[in-house]
Amino acid sequence: MVRFPEGFLWGTATASYQVEGAVNEDGRGASIWDTFSHTPGKVYRGDTGDSACDQYHRVEEDLDLMADVGLQAYRFSVAWPRIQPEGTGPANQRGLDYYRRLVDGLRRRNIEPMLTLYHWDLPQALEDGGGWTSRGTSERFAEYTRIVYEALGDSVGFWITLNEPWVSAWLGYGIGVHAPGHQDTSKALAATHHLLLGHGLALETMRSLGHTDNQLGITLNLAPVRPASEDAEDAEAARRVDGNANRLYLDPLFSGSYPDDMLEHYAPESDFSFVRDGDLDTISAPVDFLGVNYYMRHTVVDGQRASDLTTAMRFSDLDAATVLPPGVDTTAMGWPVEPDGLTELLLRLHGEYTQIPLYITENGRAVHDYVDPEGDVDDEERVAFLDAHFRAAHAAMEQGVDLGGYIVWSLLDNFEWAEGYSKRFGIVFVEYGNQRRIPKMSARWYREVIERNGLADEDPNA
Ligand code: FCB
Repeated sequence: MVRFPEGFLWGTATASYQVEGAVNEDGRGASIWDTFSHTPGKVYRGDTGDSACDQYHRVEEDLDLMADVGLQAYRFSVAWPRIQPEGTGPANQRGLDYYRRLVDGLRRRNIEPMLTLYHWDLPQALEDGGGWTSRGTSERFAEYTRIVYEALGDSVGFWITLNEPWVSAWLGYGIGVHAPGHQDTSKALAATHHLLLGHGLALETMRSLGHTDNQLGITLNLAPVRPASEDAEDAEAARRVDGNANRLYLDPLFSGSYPDDMLEHYAPESDFSFVRDGDLDTISAPVDFLGVNYYMRHTVVDGQRASDLTTAMRFSDLDAATVLPPGVDTTAMGWPVEPDGLTELLLRLHGEYTQIPLYITENGRAVHDYVDPEGDVDDEERVAFLDAHFRAAHAAMEQGVDLGGYIVWSLLDNFEWAEGYSKRFGIVFVEYGNQRRIPKMSARWYREVIERNGLADEDPNA
């Protein structure tokens, strides 16, 4: 039996725009994702988050569902445009009331709330003023944080400033497949800095408001990177991908500087003059924990070689691409399944960056799930995936990594950004036509894991 330490926190995650729906209710303003998803051609089949999982109206039902799975933590995000419809000014009380209901409902069921302040739904009004390319947005973010922290700081123990700033900056401003859809490397770099600055200012604000027992952190999506071959070109390409995907965020947060090789690489696009005196001190102020979202490893080839290969992902601004290692299983997203990458990642963070507690704040996989004639959803692939990743996390803990908990993405199938509703990540199936929730096999399995606080000896992969 693989046992986790007492107090290890097991949970699931969602994000506001992906599950709430009710986009025009109780004074909510528009976000960049409303605009983007309503723009033809941006999201698969034109799906939008207008209704999503309707959690806004079904919060009691979903809370009961969480209790049935035996969850100990629920990670959710607050929709900034519910709190400040235009991104500035006084609080919209009805927006705050919704999250108060959610938090109280969690507490009543003994489920630890883990609150993310920003999971990508920027108020559209702020985007109209430049969005994350503008320094003002970092300041607005700190003001918004103050409102939420004053309202909920007494009842929420875990605070995550940003979810995956890499995705906000690069998919939103650099590659353009996410809202707001810009394709400009210099914008992605400015967005990176202003997101990180927003994190630092939000942290400072929360620290000034008391509740000193609360744990404050940030969540990054990180990927271990390796070259696809022994060739020097691939090794160089892997260094660039690592610089962009990992070090561009970890270095400022934990060492107070941007990596030299990235400053050099991006010199033709940006002189980084948006970095002002003192910013990096603000950004590198100590956090209490680091949230890690792990989905895959990047196996990298140089851009020149990539043209002859089937590539998984292209990083055109890095002259690099990723390939699928031979024989590796892939998810419904096409992402390689590599649980040992999680061990590698956690050991690197612990060895090179920080000894503060780490939390897996997202991990999971998409499966082509369906309801069978008996009414069941037998997502064996998801069970095997989670089992293998839990073991990989445990292996890192045995080697000294301080891991405080594991949050599975996701509680529910939901609006998977540019993929719309076509990709299912939930441990609970959502029948979008009637909003019926059907717990999958993985939900029952997860319940047992949580009950035992461990995994049976039998590895379903074996
Ligand atoms: C992460 C996002 C999350 C979800 C998963 C699959 O990048 O944080 O909202 O979409 O991917």
